[in-house]
Amino acid sequence: MKAIRASLISFFNDPGDGSDASTYVYFADGCVVVNALGCIESVGPWDAIKRTLGPAVQIDDYSGFLLSPGFIDSHVHGSQLDVIASYGTQLLEWLARHTFPAEQRLADPVRAAAMAELFFSQLIRNGTTSAAVWPTVHEQATDEFFQQAQTQNMRVICGKVLMDQHCPTALRDSSVAQTERVLRSQIERWHGQDRLSYAMTPRFAVATSEALMLMAGRLFREIPGLYMQNHLAENHAEIATVAKMYPQDRSYLSLYERMGFCGPRSIFAHCLWLDKTDWSLLARTNSRIAFCPSSNLFLGSGFFQLDQATDMGITVGLATDVGGGSSLSMLNAMASAYIVQQTVVQQNVVQQNVVQQNSVQKPINASSSSLHPLRQFYLATLGGARCLDWEGKVGQLAIGCEADMVVLRWSNDPLSRNRQDQSHQLSDRLFALSTLGDQRNIKATYVKGELRYFDES
Ligand code: GUN
Ligand code: ZN
Repeated sequence: MKAIRASLISFFNDPGDGSDASTYVYFADGCVVVNALGCIESVGPWDAIKRTLGPAVQIDDYSGFLLSPGFIDSHVHGSQLDVIASYGTQLLEWLARHTFPAEQRLADPVRAAAMAELFFSQLIRNGTTSAAVWPTVHEQATDEFFQQAQTQNMRVICGKVLMDQHCPTALRDSSVAQTERVLRSQIERWHGQDRLSYAMTPRFAVATSEALMLMAGRLFREIPGLYMQNHLAENHAEIATVAKMYPQDRSYLSLYERMGFCGPRSIFAHCLWLDKTDWSLLARTNSRIAFCPSSNLFLGSGFFQLDQATDMGITVGLATDVGGGSSLSMLNAMASAYIVQQTVVQQNVVQQNVVQQNSVQKPINASSSSLHPLRQFYLATLGGARCLDWEGKVGQLAIGCEADMVVLRWSNDPLSRNRQDQSHQLSDRLFALSTLGDQRNIKATYVKGELRYFDES
């Protein structure tokens, strides 16, 4: 048993505009007790919990720091650390010029192992304890990513990337039958082992043939508990390419539906350019969205309509989408999400004005408002857990949950310290933390109750 003392925040539900105090709990001086299995035994104010602790209980005292559930990255490419900050391109050119060559290098198992180790250690350094991870098309590289996730005992979704066209020959699956054999043997090896789950990972409709997609959809429905992850409606040139390749399908998403991709364990990244029918289809099938704000800004892809998704009852998680995104820090993703939402709010104001002048129908997503700081932290924790179908397991500081936790310092330099000193209000402090924060704000990370990162400074 160990007890972690700190200020403490955790969510019961989406806090929306932050006005409903029943959606979260905050203890200025709180405590989480972790049992020998790495699960949370009790949570509450320090004053109440300390009386229940026996003399043998180890107390990790982080008074003055903030304890949050470990961050959950709903979509990240562990294979793309080499291409973070690649200049001057949008999606298709970025893939061809930077990303595919970098992924090709992971055919070398030694390089893949080193990349996987760097990736998971950097996630933990950034307070991220769970993720839906993309390796490469290579079987061995995929094994290395699973191996590292297991070594760190992280709750991770991962699966060999599926691609067999419109990409370098070296990155192509050889045949559907051979790929199915590889997938089945990897599922045997990894799916359900410790905290790992396997995902069908067809890259996107441009690079994954219909036959390969159909096989992925079939396995997804056949094998219990499998996930499905892919990219959807990110970029105009991508969408135009898919429309040309599949003129008989009503939309990009209806093609994916025909492939058998929709459902509650299906995570669609981006979803920037959907129509009303697509939104309804995602809602009806209870499919999930990974919101990738930093990547969407960096690649100039577009602005995600978070309020539209929420109004439709679609579950959204937050994601870094490294290497399209430029940082593994979920604090950075929160800050980028705020910026995206500010732009959406402004666009909707402009749109509404135009609508009023022309007195035509109201736009569908007129109710946007700035992204509340509590909601930023919700999206990175419980929102991510819901997106990845892990509610009750991770994403909350709640009894019975696995003790994945991050200890945050409120400031990381004199500028952010000064900013924090101006405020005692929780929302404002959280907002300054997400806006000014980065890896330096991570004091410690616990994975299933084990201390995996500690910053001595
Ligand atoms: N679409 C297909 N592959 C990718 C990728 O690696 N990153 C992003 N952002 N979009 C994609
Ligand atoms: Zn991606």
